[in-house]
Amino acid sequence: MAKSLLFFCALGLASAKSKPHILFLLADDLGWANIGYHRTGAQTEDEKQGALEVQTPVIDQLVAEGVALDRHYAYRICGPARSALLSGRQAPHVLVKNVAVTAQNRADPVSGYAGIPRNMTGMGVKVKEGGYRTHYTGKWDAGMATPEHTPFGRGFETSFLYFQHANDYWNKKTGIQATGEITPCLNAFHDLMIENATYRGPYKGADLTDACKHSYEPTPSCYEEKMFEDHSLEIIKNHNASDVEHPLFLFHAFHLLHTPLQVPRYYYDQIEKDVISKGGKSFDSENRRLLMAMTKYMDDTIGNLTKALKAKGMWDNTLVVFTTDNGGPIYVPGSANNYPLRGGKYSDFDGGVRTATFISGGYVPAERRGKVHEGIVSVSDWYTIFSELAGVDPTDTQAEKANVWLKEKGLSQLAPVDGKKGQLEAIFSGSPGPRATEPLFLSGNALLDFPYKLVTGKQVYMVHTGPVFPNCSTISSVKAGKGPDFIDFAVLEKKIDLGDSHYWRGDCGEGCLFNVQEDPSESIDLSKKPEHADRLQKMIATLAEYNKTLFLPERGETHIQACYSAMLNGHGTFGPFVSIEGYYSDQPRMFEDLSSHEKLQMAIMGAVSLGPVKKVIQEVAPKIILKQLEKKGDVCCTEESCKIVEEVLGELDDLELVRNISQLARPQASVYV
Ligand SMILES: *[C@@H]1O[C@H](CO)[C@@H](O)[C@H](O)[C@H]1NC(C)=O
Ligand SMILES: *[C@@H]1O[C@H](CO)[C@@H](O)[C@H](O)[C@H]1NC(C)=O
Ligand SMILES: *[C@@H]1O[C@H](CO)[C@@H](O)[C@H](O)[C@H]1NC(C)=O
Ligand SMILES: *[C@@H]1O[C@H](CO)[C@@H](O)[C@H](O)[C@H]1NC(C)=O
Ligand SMILES: *[C@@H]1O[C@H](CO)[C@@H](O)[C@H](O)[C@H]1NC(C)=O
Ligand SMILES: *[C@@H]1O[C@H](CO)[C@@H](O)[C@H](O)[C@H]1NC(C)=O
Ligand SMILES: *[C@@H]1O[C@H](CO)[C@@H](O)[C@H](O)[C@H]1NC(C)=O
Repeated sequence: MAKSLLFFCALGLASAKSKPHILFLLADDLGWANIGYHRTGAQTEDEKQGALEVQTPVIDQLVAEGVALDRHYAYRICGPARSALLSGRQAPHVLVKNVAVTAQNRADPVSGYAGIPRNMTGMGVKVKEGGYRTHYTGKWDAGMATPEHTPFGRGFETSFLYFQHANDYWNKKTGIQATGEITPCLNAFHDLMIENATYRGPYKGADLTDACKHSYEPTPSCYEEKMFEDHSLEIIKNHNASDVEHPLFLFHAFHLLHTPLQVPRYYYDQIEKDVISKGGKSFDSENRRLLMAMTKYMDDTIGNLTKALKAKGMWDNTLVVFTTDNGGPIYVPGSANNYPLRGGKYSDFDGGVRTATFISGGYVPAERRGKVHEGIVSVSDWYTIFSELAGVDPTDTQAEKANVWLKEKGLSQLAPVDGKKGQLEAIFSGSPGPRATEPLFLSGNALLDFPYKLVTGKQVYMVHTGPVFPNCSTISSVKAGKGPDFIDFAVLEKKIDLGDSHYWRGDCGEGCLFNVQEDPSESIDLSKKPEHADRLQKMIATLAEYNKTLFLPERGETHIQACYSAMLNGHGTFGPFVSIEGYYSDQPRMFEDLSSHEKLQMAIMGAVSLGPVKKVIQEVAPKIILKQLEKKGDVCCTEESCKIVEEVLGELDDLELVRNISQLARPQASVYV
């Protein structure tokens, strides 16, 4: 407490102010150009059209009353960025690639799973220690294997969440359209859970079906974002605002705008009408229209959440943080746009890692409202910022303790917290802040030494998108086999690579060098310029040095036990599968309790987990699936306005397809169904 008072006094803020409520809004896959306040100053017709399509009035108003953090850097993909955010480590120090939530390496009980290593301390633990009431809503994607990996284990008193990169917005299952792969659990399960003091297990409400999918209501009750919004509104409503010792910490992690591109029809219709009524043209890409409708939906939700805080009289003492895990995915079907930045999700160019971020709310000092903060902020800093606001020490002593044991066993040790102290102070005072003087380790392939940035090696989506993207030319490029296609498609954890042209992949070799201040779109590679030769070599050497600290423990692959656990312990829903004694509130099911459909699913899962069968499926399935995926690409609609096409892939997670694919492997397997 004394420490936090000292901090506030140092800030020159009203020291009488109590700890602020914190509303953390995390968008998923939001593109730099897919938000209104990045679309101001449109000059050309195309830029004007692009600006009209992005309808985010609530966000734009919050930015006008808050501070835009113009140099906020995260990581090129979601799982690592989220793990960084929630653990206070830069992604290279906590997780560098997406790992299946069902993975396990039994030789490393600390880090041998997806997400944040089991024995690191999570953000929720820290703020709770400082008196906050902590709640989590939405996408997690920071690990699931043990109860310690879940939001509950990371210090959130209550949570309503899904664990994977995505589920279906309507039925909350993990079909191929949602996950972009055929998983060893055969895309069979739901992914939606509740955790609190009295119940931990699958969500059991009525809205676990896609019954409302065709509804014309603006916010039908089974749309996942509606469920998340309702949940967060309940939390705000039930918060005891007069208990100043226990302010609210609400982490609302949208599924929006991640694929699958699904939105209530009302919004899909409305966005077209809005654009036309404002003098714009019809959407020519169905996916772009879907994404813009989803963006509007997110904006409306934020409006409702902030309204609820105002209604409770909490707003004047609330700090709102808005950010996204990574930049927009510019492949089909991701369909985001990072104009004028280069690249997108999966690449180290700014389109992938420089993330739209701002703070707002009554807690922002009046003299800073409407300003832009230029200092570098890392996604890993929020952990420390909130620890400071809560008046607790951000040091992770639990990780330090685990390191003693890890060292003894010769396993990868856990990094200390990277988040910088004094960031909020810098943001509030308009000074460059603690990252002005040292390079930022963006990934094993990129380093920011502002204003210079080094990007090395092969990079996907190494392009500039225009102001109106994706468009009909993008769609014909995909149809002609020239990309941009999704890079992470996998069958039973084996990635498919169709070749460079499909992913707009280029090569920076030893290093491309940019001045991102003068050249924010990273168009001018300075690496061959003699006057930058020394800088280039120095930055390569620094990256090599930082590379020695890359955290690369063996995470393992899906253990079939994780699938069986979802079937039995989770009653058909994903959840922890290791050390779960006392975790699930309900009794597990027995094999006899399963329907015949589920028994068959379980048998096929077992069969495809066997080496030879798996291999055959990995070989034959892509050909079948990629053909089907092509059918559900994007639609160019120049003549007539876009209609939502039937979701060809809607049934792909169904047993039938898996059975078909398994048939192909039959000669290889002796155990078969
Ligand atoms: C915990 O979740 C269950 C299921 O949603 C709910 O019935 C119960 O009220 C919740 N309890 C608390 C303390 O939030
Ligand atoms: C709310 O907090 C205040 C202050 O701590 C306390 O006096 C009051 O009993 C609390 N109300 C409820 C409903 O718990
Ligand atoms: C926002 O609040 C309004 C008014 O209560 C409600 O009708 C709507 O469903 C809510 N959600 C969204 C996304 O608009
Ligand atoms: C890691 O955390 C688990 C669960 O709290 C604990 O049982 C185990 O002893 C810890 N391991 C180390 C090495 O600290
Ligand atoms: C349309 O997309 C292509 C890439 O597919 C891009 O080069 C072009 O700039 C886009 N057009 C506009 C107007 O943004
Ligand atoms: C750093 O490590 C990455 C990932 O292992 C590698 O691709 C890259 O070449 C390394 N860079 C340097 C400068 O050593
Ligand atoms: C499975 O195979 C049958 C027979 O070849 C075919 O009619 C059916 O369409 C296939 N189903 C899927 C989902 O591919």
